[in-house]
Amino acid sequence: MNRAPETPPHPSGDKRFKLLDVAIKRHQFRQDALIELLHAAQELFGFLDSDVLIYIARALRAPPSRVYGVATFYNFFKMRPAGEHTCTVCMGTACYVKGAGAILAALEREHGIRAGETTSDQRLSLVTARCVGACGLAPAVVVDETLEGRLTPEATLERVRQITRAASPAETKP
Ligand code: FES
Repeated sequence: MNRAPETPPHPSGDKRFKLLDVAIKRHQFRQDALIELLHAAQELFGFLDSDVLIYIARALRAPPSRVYGVATFYNFFKMRPAGEHTCTVCMGTACYVKGAGAILAALEREHGIRAGETTSDQRLSLVTARCVGACGLAPAVVVDETLEGRLTPEATLERVRQITRAASPAETKP
């Protein structure tokens, strides 16, 4: 008897994997939905790192080499954010109605970039996501890997200033 397919254990406590599971189940674990699932993952995470690619490969029971091959073949898939730090502003419905647009606009103004871009000093990449799985904390922002909830534009700017002003490893070398 065939067992019903299941999603693999999550590689971290990041709630966005739960949302990725929803997309995987909606596509019934089909390998021919790989591109749609990579799009869904990129919308959730902002880019596709190896944890995410391996997770998708395991869920679809597809060879990781194939998943990597597809993700690297298309230039609309980003394998990593270009900047040293990443700020992901959730623009899902719950966050949007609680002011995510004002947060994004404040970040764009302060750093002189638009969503999807990286500052010229490569310090910060600004990305948006559709829902990061923390609607109860809306508006939510993921700063590097840390989820921050119930933020105001000013608190978000301050949080991002803290990480971008911290000395980078290159600057601490003698
Ligand atoms: S809509 Fe932002 S966390 Fe769900």
